[in-house]
Amino acid sequence: MFGRIDHIGVAVEDLDAAMELYRDRLDMREQHRETVEESGVEAVLLEVGESHVELLRPLSEETGVARFIERNGPGIHHVAYGTDDIDAALDAARAAGLRLIDEEPRRGIRGSRVAFMHPKATAGVLTELVEAAH
Ligand code: CO
Repeated sequence: MFGRIDHIGVAVEDLDAAMELYRDRLDMREQHRETVEESGVEAVLLEVGESHVELLRPLSEETGVARFIERNGPGIHHVAYGTDDIDAALDAARAAGLRLIDEEPRRGIRGSRVAFMHPKATAGVLTELVEAAH
């Protein structure tokens, strides 16, 4: 089902402060920045070898990431696993009886297709599947 860990999603309140930490002090290169209205976030991908840290700043109070920060404070929001075939991975997750948030893939950053599994089905870890754009 999973090919690799694609990224760790980190919820932040202050993107400039987070960039000062990750880019400037931890020396991770900024690879991509995108506002994803559909998900209500501004996202920045930073390079860590072949994987990434994905910083997520909520665009408004009504977004899932804003609610997460309100409940838990800033911090690790999700783990994303890369797959070459997200449709097959979703079928496999469904066959394994895992509860999904997204029954169908939706658009992620950089033209990827993504789908989230429910954290109640995955031991409290919000889990994302991501198929990179080809
Ligand atoms: Co993500």
